[in-house]
Amino acid sequence: MIKVKSSTRDYDIRFVEPKHLLEDFAVQDIVVTDENLAKHYKSTIPDQAIVVPAGEASKSFDIYRELISQFAKLGLKRKGRVFAFGGGVVGDLAGFAAASYMRGVELIQIPTSLLAMVDSSVGGKVGIDLPEGKNLVGAFWPPHEVRISAECLKTLPEEEYRNGMAEVIKYGAIMDQNLFEALAETPMLPGDEREELIIRQCIEHKKFVVEEDEFETTGLRAILNFGHTIGHAIEKVQDYKGLKHGEAVAVGMVVESGITEKLLHTEPGTSERIKAVLRSHGLPTAMPEGIEIDELMQAMTLDKKATQEGLAFSVVPALGTCKLLTNINPAEVRGLLEHQ
Ligand SMILES: NC(=O)c1ccc[n+]([C@@H]2O[C@H](COP(=O)([O-])OP(=O)(O)OC[C@H]3O[C@@H](n4cnc5c(N)ncnc54)[C@H](O)[C@@H]3O)[C@@H](O)[C@H]2O)c1
Ligand SMILES: [Zn+2]
Repeated sequence: MIKVKSSTRDYDIRFVEPKHLLEDFAVQDIVVTDENLAKHYKSTIPDQAIVVPAGEASKSFDIYRELISQFAKLGLKRKGRVFAFGGGVVGDLAGFAAASYMRGVELIQIPTSLLAMVDSSVGGKVGIDLPEGKNLVGAFWPPHEVRISAECLKTLPEEEYRNGMAEVIKYGAIMDQNLFEALAETPMLPGDEREELIIRQCIEHKKFVVEEDEFETTGLRAILNFGHTIGHAIEKVQDYKGLKHGEAVAVGMVVESGITEKLLHTEPGTSERIKAVLRSHGLPTAMPEGIEIDELMQAMTLDKKATQEGLAFSVVPALGTCKLLTNINPAEVRGLLEHQ
């Protein structure tokens, strides 16, 4: 068990067998899940669960409104709990519904994707998207408990597994050289016997960061954005129809570390090592065809970490370490991107 401290409430992250994920579900509680999970986990998920369509499009205002109406219709009371059974989409959406319904009801996060296990279910951020941008409406609503069964990964599609691995490799690159070296030596592929161990290690890193900088005020939490300044920009330029998030972050980690190597903030050779590990996990490492540098730069300057003074990158000075670099001159980044 891992205990996480937060200013709202402390919570436990427990590793359990699949059959125990919902064992204490009671009549006053509600399960929210998506249609893929409902299909795969028929015998675990109660019949009265609320099932939303799978995919990012469900993190919408319309689905959110439907969800809280359902809560009311099903008679969810302040003492009832919301179990978010699914990937990051279900966690963020049901989490935000739980945060706002009756000014907040109990939330149990049951992450089923690798990304949700190592990232989105920990740290208390919940929210939905607007047509104007991703995650523009949300709250800090720490879960009351997180339950994880690595066995759920058996049904996770391989491309979603790879997507989560990009974040796992990120933790290695920014905080844990041993983890990075272990993945370099033997890639973590579906069914790997180190799954639970590595998930625990990643959660310990995320716990450290969110406990130190819960509301992203000191800059520490921003180190988790390694690869994300460029990754988010790629996703945006491709209108979220191109690379998946983890794939875009993989490219972002390679390109960002290449740029900071040239700016002498990163040990030479780091970018190549990151590239090799990503490749061995089946992740892309080169900028996709058809991305205009102008559009990429525009998306980057709109990034919420950018300031008047310049761009912000989470930088890996040497593998396993990280710092936030702000006020980077966009013209310099542009020049380096052109000479990739
Ligand atoms: N709150 C945070 O701190 C935070 C952090 C990172 C990402 N996020 C959010 O997380 C979301 C992405 O999460 P995701 O990658 O888990 O996407 P997702 O929830 O869409 O899941 C990916 C796909 O895998 C399927 N799936 C999930 N678990 C499965 C399983 N065990 N078996 C079979 N299929 C399964 C889902 O149905 C879906 O089709 C984004 O919306 C992102 O903004 C939030
Ligand atoms: Zn990410």
